[in-house]
Amino acid sequence: MKKLDCQSASEIVIFGALGDLSRRKLLPALYQLEVCGLINERSRIVAVARPTHTIEEFKSFVLENLNNFVKEEIDEDVLARFMARLVYQQLDMKEASAYSNLADTLSGGNSTRVYYFSTPPAIYGDICDGLNHASLICDDDRVVMEKPIGHCLESSKVINNQVARFFNENQIYRIDHYLGKETVLNLLVLRFANSLFTNNWDRNSIDHVQITVAESVGIEGRWGFYDEAGQMRDMIQNHLLQILSLLAMEPPADLSAESIRAEKLKAVKALSPIDRTNVKEKTVRGQYADGFLNGVAVPGYLNEEGAIANSKTETFVAIKAEIDNWRWSGVPFYLRTGKRMPAKHSEIVVHFKEQPHNIFKDSYSELPSNKLTIRLQPDEGVELQMMNKIPGIASQMNIQENKLDLSFSDTYQDQRVIDAYERLMLEVLNGNQSLFVSRDEVEAAWTWADSIIDAWQATSEAPKPYAAGSWGPVSSISLIARDDRQWVE
Ligand code: BG6
Repeated sequence: MKKLDCQSASEIVIFGALGDLSRRKLLPALYQLEVCGLINERSRIVAVARPTHTIEEFKSFVLENLNNFVKEEIDEDVLARFMARLVYQQLDMKEASAYSNLADTLSGGNSTRVYYFSTPPAIYGDICDGLNHASLICDDDRVVMEKPIGHCLESSKVINNQVARFFNENQIYRIDHYLGKETVLNLLVLRFANSLFTNNWDRNSIDHVQITVAESVGIEGRWGFYDEAGQMRDMIQNHLLQILSLLAMEPPADLSAESIRAEKLKAVKALSPIDRTNVKEKTVRGQYADGFLNGVAVPGYLNEEGAIANSKTETFVAIKAEIDNWRWSGVPFYLRTGKRMPAKHSEIVVHFKEQPHNIFKDSYSELPSNKLTIRLQPDEGVELQMMNKIPGIASQMNIQENKLDLSFSDTYQDQRVIDAYERLMLEVLNGNQSLFVSRDEVEAAWTWADSIIDAWQATSEAPKPYAAGSWGPVSSISLIARDDRQWVE
């Protein structure tokens, strides 16, 4: 396959270019790549959408969104270069015969085409049919797909099969934007560039792991969409399982897509099944009720605009996940994610085992275990909690729990925080699939998630209410307390 980089030209075709993802993420990410000089001067960005617009109208749409979503001041020279790449193509994406218009717009020839499906997955198949109809698919072309890839294992297979009719797996880039986050990428470095962690990363040294992805936002005007999904499909099946697999996988031989994806897949496949027999003991589902966030009253899920009164969709999930393999046997991974929690706060806490014997009993009756905290967002950083002697003369040895704190914003003051989509767009252009999810991974993740969803449906219990602005239902505290542990707040 042709390798693209800023040396070679591409045509980046965004289907659904007027949509939310494109406005908020894709166009700003491409602009930032322009700032960094990472887009070849002959590359073009072809925006495809259904409404009719002139190129001037589209450019003013782009400018408005860059102003809204790029944090830094827009550079006029860069903007001029960026605008010069833009092409707008009106298209009824469901109408195969209309794609000849797109063919006329695309230059063909030496450019590799990147087709970005920023549309509902229900029309991925139509887009593929249209591209094929207009002979717009070559072996070098790439397709980028957004989640959700399906609603369950079976529906994910349907979507993947529709795309696989025309694109090989090595042309397909399935986005999980968490894989483009700097702090998630840093998990590879932490684990495999530091012997301290590489050599202590298993059941002999680690007691348990907590992964929390909390959001303070609610449903943000997308109730209908969210209600079909729920937090399990929206966050656990993809983002949390991706984080878990990076934490739990065996060391890959190298950084290639083949090596990393193969190890991640093995980790997800080794997850102990949760089904009707153990779902009550291993999971908690919650739904936010009316509450307060930062002192402001916010409505519960069922009182949001457009809500259906008796919806049983969960907005919070906690799971005790276990991995049945040699490395992790007996080490629980507690996952927790929810909407309308007190703050946007995502972190991983690795709890190491306690010391077998305490010689400091006089000053510390129970030695706390070491904890490695990886702050994913915001306030990105890595923190190691450890015991230290308090300096000074005293008849007994006074010790204290302290932390080594590597705050990214303090350490890398001159570095801009890169958005996940910038990294992912660049990797698509470079033809590197290592930060994208393979079909096998998607299917393994659905297999595990489907079994939990099936078990919840079988019990037909409503999710447990929790007040908006709290850390979830009380039963999520019991989930971990039963094992004599507690969530790190
Ligand atoms: C998306 C989910 O994939 O991730 C949203 O669909 C969620 O519901 C979002 O809010 C969270 O992403 P981030 O990058 O803000 O943590």
